[in-house]
Amino acid sequence: MHEHLKESRYRHSLGVEEMAVRLAGLHGADAEKAAFAGRYHDIAKNMDIPEMDAQIRKYGLPEHLLGNNALAHSKVGAAILEHEFGVKDADILNAVRYHTTARKGMSLLEELIFVADVVEDNRTYSDLDYYQQLAYSDLDRACYEILEYTIGDLKGKNREIDTDTLEARDWVLQRIKEKNNGK
Ligand SMILES: [Fe+2]
Ligand SMILES: [Fe+2]
Repeated sequence: MHEHLKESRYRHSLGVEEMAVRLAGLHGADAEKAAFAGRYHDIAKNMDIPEMDAQIRKYGLPEHLLGNNALAHSKVGAAILEHEFGVKDADILNAVRYHTTARKGMSLLEELIFVADVVEDNRTYSDLDYYQQLAYSDLDRACYEILEYTIGDLKGKNREIDTDTLEARDWVLQRIKEKNNGK
């Protein structure tokens, strides 16, 4: 599968795998599933637009994904893992499918892949250490802050924000509030 991925993408994939396993250990998720989903979450990332669009049509995925590789690579990646690699585990497939947008009601595995993608060791942004520490200590809070950042960033660039992302932000915030009230 290495040949599907450029070298930097490959390093990122191994970084997400490693971070996902670390987060699985800290937050009580299945480490093997986390490793697999982490390693292959970007399996479709390097496709060009015509190739991605062909996959979207082949697998009957929503038309709004056409021409939008940033969103499509997670949905196409899940379809490839399911149909070409025979992955049957729904939680792994959903972790790949929603790793870009997240979604309301996401599972622990989905949430930790979403977070691991952003906080893996090869990332180079200035607040990386802050987000890593947050991910280790409070996964929901890390997820919420990443969603808030993503939404603000997309707004700033006048880009479309996926409904799943907005709903995920509200859903995680609600869960954080409920947890705090319970204390
Ligand atoms: Fe991705
Ligand atoms: Fe990624």
